[in-house]
Amino acid sequence: MKVDVLLGLQWGDEGKGKIVDVLTNNYDIIARFQGGPNAGHTLEFDGIKHVLHTIPSGIFHKGIINLIGNGVVIDPVIFENEINSLNKLNLEISELVISKKAHLILPTHKLLDAASEQAKGKNKIGSTLKGIGPTYMDKTGRNGLRVGDIKSKNFNEKYTKLKNKHTELLKFFDFEYKLDELENRWFKSLKTLKKFKHIESEHYLHNCIRDGKKILAEGAQGTLLDIDFGSYPFVTSSNTITAGACTGLGIAPNQINDVFGIFKAYCTRVGSGPFPTELDDEIGEHLGKIGNEFGATTGRSRRCGWIDLPALKYAININGVTQLIMMKSDVLSGIETIKVCTHYMNNDNKRIDYLPFEDNEDLQPIYKELKGWHKNLMELENLSDAPKEVHDYISYLENELKIPIKIISVGPDRKQTFFR
Ligand code: GDP
Ligand code: IMO
Ligand code: MG
Repeated sequence: MKVDVLLGLQWGDEGKGKIVDVLTNNYDIIARFQGGPNAGHTLEFDGIKHVLHTIPSGIFHKGIINLIGNGVVIDPVIFENEINSLNKLNLEISELVISKKAHLILPTHKLLDAASEQAKGKNKIGSTLKGIGPTYMDKTGRNGLRVGDIKSKNFNEKYTKLKNKHTELLKFFDFEYKLDELENRWFKSLKTLKKFKHIESEHYLHNCIRDGKKILAEGAQGTLLDIDFGSYPFVTSSNTITAGACTGLGIAPNQINDVFGIFKAYCTRVGSGPFPTELDDEIGEHLGKIGNEFGATTGRSRRCGWIDLPALKYAININGVTQLIMMKSDVLSGIETIKVCTHYMNNDNKRIDYLPFEDNEDLQPIYKELKGWHKNLMELENLSDAPKEVHDYISYLENELKIPIKIISVGPDRKQTFFR
């Protein structure tokens, strides 16, 4: 058996949490491979709505192992809050194990994130301010603290050394902060993190693969937020793509089987950066309202626009997508004419079929128009009962993207999901 990967093809919030939860019954292990609590993955079932930040989205299925991989960065305080809110639900949850090599987000990482954003002024990235960038900087700078360090004798010494480096760095910024309370809370929350099994997760996964266990790697963020291939510098600080599942779990590329690429039937982005198909009109507002487009982590309203085929094709190629999943199809109901961006024109009136390195702020999207539909898709019993225009939209996208769309989602609930 090999490893399947599920990841976002746009700017995040495509509905990864919902679909991982829907697919979990087909797997033995669900493994998060990158990112941290900048992620907000929403699951809805049996009248419960739950948002996960660090914990994999297989947690509500009995008999599954949920694994937080080496590529993830963990804030012990947020992790503790997540565990507490899971416990409050009084549901049976599955086992959770954590890589010793996953890096820790320190309180000072969050302060550095905030200070750096403040200093950027108008050019800020729109970070979730969870300390993600500074933590990955310490990882690549070879200064980071890892989960496996928590139980070591000189942990406090290592912590203090890193904290002192950070407080020196903070002097560079005109930024006021209070650290004592944050630090106390952080150290207290380590107790919760210590309760879970800390493992050498790459060895564990190699054994699982050898034993024929089925593994699903759960991505966070989206391809267009990837540190290498996203709209840099308006990106996150990890590899959100299929290759990130290899480095974030220790799985060899030839072990990757299916890659599920998930996208919304339109587009959203939270935070700054280019968004060629963004709509600043009533339709954009309508999508945001009907789609309830508010960030699951920060509550910020998401920018909305039409679906962008050049961006999706790029994401499909980078990830080696084998199956597509289309989310939030219900949100398009009631729009007379649906637009699909087929290519762009640049300032020199030249046709552009891809996302260029140069400033994409000036790209003019060129659209094909498709007829919309009125029926409320949330109430569909079968996909075959959907209006002809829905099927036309799906077929058009499949033809353009050359990858089958295997799942259509028509609402936030587990049950509002059709397999094709
Ligand atoms: P993730 O970060 O990719 O897991 O996505 P988020 O949870 O941040 O955002 C997706 C939002 O859309 C959540 O509020 C989901 O409950 C909701 N959602 C997921 N699928 C659908 C769908 O098909 N239709 C509608 N209307 N909402 C959906
Ligand atoms: P999920 O997993 C949407 C965005 C932030 C900001 C940029 C950098 O829920 O899809 P960071 O905090 O990483 O330094 O922020 O990336 N961002 C997300 N946008 N969904 C996410 O995760 C995101 N995680 C980060 O808004 O623009
Ligand atoms: Mg999200």
